[in-house]
Amino acid sequence: MSILTNKCIVLGVSGSIAAYKSPDIVRRLQDLGAEVRVILTQGGAKFITELSLQATSKNKVQNNLWDKEAELSMGHIELAKWADALLIAPASANTIANLAAGKACDLLSSVILASDCPTLIAPAMNQQMYTSNSVQDNLATLVQRGIQIIDPENGVQACGDIGEGRLAESDEIAKQVGLMFQSTKMSGKKVLITLGATIEAIDPVRYLSNHSSGKMGMALADACIEAGAQVTLILGDVSTSISKPSKQIFVTSAEQMYRSVMENINDQTIFIACAAVSDYSVKNPKNHKIKKSDKTLTIELVPTKDILKDVCQLPQKPICIGFAAETQNLLENANNKLKNKGCDAIILNDVSCTDLGFKSDENEVVFIDQKSSIKLAKNSKQKLGRKIIEIISEKFL
Ligand code: C5P
Repeated sequence: MSILTNKCIVLGVSGSIAAYKSPDIVRRLQDLGAEVRVILTQGGAKFITELSLQATSKNKVQNNLWDKEAELSMGHIELAKWADALLIAPASANTIANLAAGKACDLLSSVILASDCPTLIAPAMNQQMYTSNSVQDNLATLVQRGIQIIDPENGVQACGDIGEGRLAESDEIAKQVGLMFQSTKMSGKKVLITLGATIEAIDPVRYLSNHSSGKMGMALADACIEAGAQVTLILGDVSTSISKPSKQIFVTSAEQMYRSVMENINDQTIFIACAAVSDYSVKNPKNHKIKKSDKTLTIELVPTKDILKDVCQLPQKPICIGFAAETQNLLENANNKLKNKGCDAIILNDVSCTDLGFKSDENEVVFIDQKSSIKLAKNSKQKLGRKIIEIISEKFL
């Protein structure tokens, strides 16, 4: 996994001669694993074509706040929500002034206003303009608001002047974006995560299982790895690509998952039970395929062991986080689960919505602990994963 794997970056390209370097910035961000969407301002379009940026980013370039078609697919609010980080490179004196004044006069400034994600800007302009009081004051305002400045370089400029104002190198810009995601919040911590669906054999051909894809668990694993944790994954049946954890163990049945968790739970700081574990297994699975007949077939089911509940009862229990996939009486059921299982928090998701939850790339959850409940609005599982890990770190570590 590279530092920007699964990260969505909106790159704003504004009116500076250095805009000709922007396709290279796109490529360097992609080298680090990012997906990039470009917003090209009117000024930027004087120096670089939409086509070059579309070809490198492999996404339609957005340039118009008032474009009905663009609004239908991904308007300024959707773009702002999609982004994990916003980068403006090159950032012209005019764009910097717009941001400092809080304007929403074009698509780029509107997206910046509509977003709460980290923002970096790489100024590029003539050295005299760059050192002017107005630009420096505007930059100071942006720094105060938490925007990170990627300093321009000193040297010969396109206009022939020598001084500070040359756009930082593309590699350096991409590196600074990557560094923003590096965190040590969980370094030295060990996290055990169960994910995916368990499979309970009926006979050698048929089985009982559920719709879990493992995507939410994998997003949580990615967020933990990103935060520096040592992650052990215990995977049931998953239909998602698997990142590189410290250790991974594949299991099939609830019983195997139970044993695997118990064998690996020692020394774990956090246990996240994200797997959709079967509550029942077949009492006597058949060794041979059950033959079809006209008679009613009864399969006797027996309850499985509750992994989460048993981990919560260990004398030296880790911080335990469970999931509640519910279709009715959501909050009531989730709160009961929090109490009955004795875990530190429950993450509730409504699996009655067909466009969210199981198999979907998006989710909407409520993080519930003894003291509070925090609603995390609909977003990609990757983003929710990061948010959940942030909350766990703040509340329990
Ligand atoms: O009781 P219920 O299955 O609805 O609880 C869901 C939570 O409990 C999830 O976090 C799930 O991973 C965990 N669980 C478990 N062992 C089971 C059943 C559920 O760890 N046998």
